[in-house]
Amino acid sequence: MEATLRIDPAFTVGPVRRRTFGSFVEHLGRCVYTGIYEPGHPTADEQGFRGDVLDLVREMGVSTVRYPGGNFVSGYRWEDGIGPVESRPKRLDLAWHSLEPNEVGTDEFMAWAKKAGVEPMMAINLGTRGVLEALDIVEYCNVPAGSDWAERRRTNGADDPYRVKMWCLGNEMDGPWQMGHKTPAEYGRIATEAARAMRMIDPDLELVACGSSGRGMETFGEWERVVLTEAYDQIDMISAHAYYWEKDSGLQEFLVSAEDMDRFIDQVGATIDAVAAARKTDKKIGISFDEWNVWYIDRDPSKPPTGDDWPIAPRLLEDNYSVADAVVVGNLLISLLRHTDRVWSASQAQLVNVIAPIMAEPGGPVWKQTTFHPFALTSANARGDVVRVLVDGPTIETGQFGDVQALDAVATWADDGAAVFVVNRHATEAMQTEIELPAGCSLVQALTLHHEDHTWKASADDDSSVGVEPNETARLDDRILSVTLPPISWTMITLA
Ligand code: AHR
Repeated sequence: MEATLRIDPAFTVGPVRRRTFGSFVEHLGRCVYTGIYEPGHPTADEQGFRGDVLDLVREMGVSTVRYPGGNFVSGYRWEDGIGPVESRPKRLDLAWHSLEPNEVGTDEFMAWAKKAGVEPMMAINLGTRGVLEALDIVEYCNVPAGSDWAERRRTNGADDPYRVKMWCLGNEMDGPWQMGHKTPAEYGRIATEAARAMRMIDPDLELVACGSSGRGMETFGEWERVVLTEAYDQIDMISAHAYYWEKDSGLQEFLVSAEDMDRFIDQVGATIDAVAAARKTDKKIGISFDEWNVWYIDRDPSKPPTGDDWPIAPRLLEDNYSVADAVVVGNLLISLLRHTDRVWSASQAQLVNVIAPIMAEPGGPVWKQTTFHPFALTSANARGDVVRVLVDGPTIETGQFGDVQALDAVATWADDGAAVFVVNRHATEAMQTEIELPAGCSLVQALTLHHEDHTWKASADDDSSVGVEPNETARLDDRILSVTLPPISWTMITLA
């Protein structure tokens, strides 16, 4: 099969935002304990943070990290996690039916974020708590000195304020599973009041209201309309969450999951614009896509313990990703980049062990899942402006979305080089692809993630026999770059 991609750097969507390459650390399973933090591990530093995990976080090019949840935050008392570790309480974490030892809290996370070189994005509990507790943590984090919470932070060892900019006003408050689940009207009010008060401490905060936990939520659309109508003046972004996995509809449908993300972003964007029009305002609100990934949500690793079993850091949501999963992740990143005008921040969920690109064995090695590679390469090479790519090629007939292009692509353009990211979502057919480029480009390299067996998964014993390999078919002849894209593959082409 044959396809053509056309690229003209004049057709920019907006700047590549570093915040597109965010991630997420939740107190869930082994993300924190035996994930980022494991005192006694051979690579642990004096604060108990695993050096091998930190190295991979930096290699992956993660820009921001959302913390501490997730569903966890809706039952969290942030004060439990500060002060002398030996006097911190152990609490039931009802979201994941686990015991939270509170050895890691706000100060430890901030120290870790500094070491990892990432911007922290904090979430407050608007499920079981309210405005006052939100104010307390903002004061603790951002006020330099003099007030009670600021002085407590200084006593706890952090002289300088953390000056956290991005704050999520709760988590998935539209979800009936959420502690303190609310109607859109109830949530719109509390989010507005929390935001208004938080800005009295620090007017420069960037605040994210909860949008929908998925496009399939019954309240999707109406939730955004009501929340935005109430909170528009007080917030900067509204969130979107989406998880994809191979369902009974099969591999081909799974491979085009990014179509759903495209439509999700477009529909939330349209709702933002409709509310802005009704309010007669020119203020822009962005989307914080602060949970996205492949997650086999209905399988065993995602089932929390039950009954009297309240373990600390059980193995939960430890999905092992295939090559096909990695191609979908690469495609989701293409979708996020393509919408850089709408999506101002994004967080892959999650970072370590829990539906994660980085796995860490307790007392043992770290290893990279297949999904690590498209993330790391996109983060490292996307810079300058995002440029739309016109795709002209075979389509795939799908049950969910009708006919969709087999290839999906986006490009980024900077003075010192460009990159094209392209997926072949066809389950069986290779694509002989011609890419029409502007004059004067030269090919630096073409790298492809693919395996004869798309179900291949990395493990602690072997995380390198499938990675991203040079695509030897790539040739540039004048302005036409030709390359063969195997079925179920993700490719990055860099140009000078
Ligand atoms: O990322 C795992 C969970 O998915 C988060 O805790 C929750 O916000 C979402 O439902």
